[in-house]
Amino acid sequence: MVEAVAVASGKGGTGKTTATLALGMALAERYDVTVVDADTGMANLLFHAGLADAPVTLHDLLLDDADVAVDDAVYHRFGMDVVPCGTSLDAFREADPTRLRDVVAELARDTDVLLLDSPAALGSVSAVLPVVLADRVVVVLQPTVPALSDGLKVQEYARSYGTDGAGVLFNKVHDGDSVERIADRTERYFDGPVLASVPDADAAREARDAGEPLLAYAPASAAAEAFREAAAGIEIRDEPAEDVAARFRSAVVPEQP
Ligand SMILES: Nc1ncnc2c1ncn2[C@@H]1O[C@H](COP(=O)(O)OP(=O)(O)O)[C@@H](O)[C@H]1O
Ligand SMILES: [Mg+2]
Repeated sequence: MVEAVAVASGKGGTGKTTATLALGMALAERYDVTVVDADTGMANLLFHAGLADAPVTLHDLLLDDADVAVDDAVYHRFGMDVVPCGTSLDAFREADPTRLRDVVAELARDTDVLLLDSPAALGSVSAVLPVVLADRVVVVLQPTVPALSDGLKVQEYARSYGTDGAGVLFNKVHDGDSVERIADRTERYFDGPVLASVPDADAAREARDAGEPLLAYAPASAAAEAFREAAAGIEIRDEPAEDVAARFRSAVVPEQP
């Protein structure tokens, strides 16, 4: 079985990468998990996962004349398979974003859950493809009205490509009241539940600086606990791996995102 879940948001810096790795580690207790840094223009998962020196990354797999195998960009870390992406702007320019379909199809053959750390903006093929490919999307937001409206755009876009909502994850929450104030609107407009409210936590920043996912760096922190709660709210659906791989391979790439 396999399901692809995009972790997305309307803005950068909301904690998509932190959330991708945290959900990945929590889900890895029950499933075989593969996380992919599909934010190919603003990649930063490698720094969060201690893979800054990874010799082969997703960028190498997206080159038209790629001479590496998908497996060469897969690193087993923290109980998951991790596919980091490089940060070179030249490599990003040379990459063919549509090749992500084949990479994801290949990865889907041998995992239960594919988490796609997705770009924030929706302005280009490379930015929208992870959300288009995914079965469902988790929207990571700070609990403010402007952030909700950004997140809704992501959800609308996802819906238009048949990607369902897996729920909303509030992150960097400063006080419980802020979530309470917008709870009604969140429930009314978003598909899926509020998966968790993750507090703003020094442990999250320190983990990033240490090059470790939060659940490895501070597993007993309140923030880690909230991410585990969020992961428990995502029931992974059972689709035959071959069907999913074929679907990824044949996904329609939007021409005018
Ligand atoms: N709950 C949190 N509390 C405090 N800092 C956080 C939290 N989640 C993420 N951060 C920090 O915010 C910054 C951006 O997070 P990151 O996951 O890289 O965001 P994105 O991938 O959306 O750009 C990082 O320095 C990270 O450590
Ligand atoms: Mg990121």
